[in-house]
Amino acid sequence: MSDDLARVAVLLSGRGSNFVALADACARGEVPAEIVLVLSNKADAGGLDRARERGIPTVAIPSKGMPREEHESRLVAALDEVEAHWVCLAGYMRLLTPVFIDRYAPRIVNIHPALLPSFPGVDAQAQAWEYGVRVSGCTVHLVDTGCDTGPIVLQRTVPVLDDDTSDTLAHRILEQEHVAYPTALRMLLTRRWRVHGRRVVFDPLIDVDRPWPASAN
Ligand code: GRF
Repeated sequence: MSDDLARVAVLLSGRGSNFVALADACARGEVPAEIVLVLSNKADAGGLDRARERGIPTVAIPSKGMPREEHESRLVAALDEVEAHWVCLAGYMRLLTPVFIDRYAPRIVNIHPALLPSFPGVDAQAQAWEYGVRVSGCTVHLVDTGCDTGPIVLQRTVPVLDDDTSDTLAHRILEQEHVAYPTALRMLLTRRWRVHGRRVVFDPLIDVDRPWPASAN
């Protein structure tokens, strides 16, 4: 553990390939963060296995049958216990309420497999393919209580090819997600930024070692 590394928790519900991309980028020193916990609302999420293989602590807090706010209180308690400062959603298939958002915002980040604000919600790649767009991609954004509505940090585009299926498109988008998420997290951790309206504004001119002004995040 190092004081120089941001303490990041990852929330996921599934296979966890974006978690792996983040963890590998951290291990290579490309993102100045330590993933201190992987949390899932699904006890059988493959991403928990990927975390265990890497020696990263895991916790499963099943959401099924539990009131939403009680579930989120438990998530917050687990994150507080490991002193997580940032939260990365990586295929976490639930909306978050103010119980969670108010505790961690604006340091909650999500990745979505489409160019928001087009195609929010589930099956975004299939939505885009069925609509017939010629370009899709992925979006890393800050998280609010809406469905994929928070301010955008970074987007990467992917052309839709004539012979694409929804699956081949999803595969190429996923490759770009694995670049976009570590890149965006690195930007958020190493540069000064603020949310101005809907925009995440990065300030290249201010020394990151100086204390943050009270008005900044
Ligand atoms: C990704 O497509 C991500 O954009 C979306 O959920 C999927 C998670 O995939 N939010 P993985 O579990 O990271 O492989």
